[in-house]
Amino acid sequence: MLNDKKLILIVDDEEDIREILSETLESMDFAHLTACDGDEAIGLLDRHHDTIDAVICDLKMPKVSGDQVIAHGTKHYPLIPIIILTGFAQLDMALDHIRLGAFDYMTKPFRVKELLLLLNRSLEFRQLQEDKIAYQNTLEERIEEATQALHNRVVQTVSSFILAIEEKDRYTQGHSKRVAEYSALMADVLNLQENERLDLLYAAQLHDIGKIGISEQLLNKPGKLNVVEYETIKTHPHKGVKILEPLDFLGHLLPIIEGHHEWFDGNGYPNGLKGENIPYLARIIAVCDTFDAMTSERSYRKPLSLKIAIQEIKDGSGSQFDPQAVEAFLKVFEETLATQMAHLVAS
Ligand SMILES: [Fe+2]
Repeated sequence: MLNDKKLILIVDDEEDIREILSETLESMDFAHLTACDGDEAIGLLDRHHDTIDAVICDLKMPKVSGDQVIAHGTKHYPLIPIIILTGFAQLDMALDHIRLGAFDYMTKPFRVKELLLLLNRSLEFRQLQEDKIAYQNTLEERIEEATQALHNRVVQTVSSFILAIEEKDRYTQGHSKRVAEYSALMADVLNLQENERLDLLYAAQLHDIGKIGISEQLLNKPGKLNVVEYETIKTHPHKGVKILEPLDFLGHLLPIIEGHHEWFDGNGYPNGLKGENIPYLARIIAVCDTFDAMTSERSYRKPLSLKIAIQEIKDGSGSQFDPQAVEAFLKVFEETLATQMAHLVAS
């Protein structure tokens, strides 16, 4: 039932009117608050706007008038319907207020039937407004979820290309997946915000996508690379950017993907970026990427032991890696990876 103990704020400077309204509302099973001037009404609205369902407000009051109560209410609590109580002399003013957001008006002397009708109509209107807002919010949430799911699917599809390339070479199998797993652990230790965490995971999965543009023979070549071959390999971060550029929603990840081989001291590639000019998430991926490369078997060497790999990471702090990223990685290693990767203990 709409009028099931709805709380109505009565604002009128005339005590008689307040009393009549209070009694009438009580008889109709409404709860009520009363204010004898605009000042008190604004105070009550500010304190009880969460529980006030509607306002009945006189226009002409000494000091702070009904005008100001209506202006305050419609500005700060637009969902609370305001019914203006007015004499015929102020009808024009009442209509102006309705144009500015008041719900409706009622002329004095009012009739009980008219009051009940207006109140119920105002409360129904409020309910409709609230339902509409709730529906819009749910709709926005659903659109957000659907967009996120779509983005996820696109990233998974694109990642599957790089996984396919990695699968062709037993030495790089699962590399991007592991880098993404290490990055997820880093995100926990670094307390990354949810959106940053997602960006990091996407970028980690996609960081080597540019290798699609490099020949398989070169990628899987056993033994050392010559200068030209190495220069070709070094083009993969930029190639990755070119491949992903058409996917608008990944645009903000491109500098991260392009920067995953930059060194903290500026000696990396492709742009020789230094320190904080390298995107933060790229600095995190750089450590995870190198750690996985060291602890995976290569065509030209066995995996390095965990002890040696960790020492290399420590030695690279401040030169190849951001010291903060190294510190976080060491924490990840001690808390999780050391036990998970115990099979790689020093040979
Ligand atoms: Fe890479």
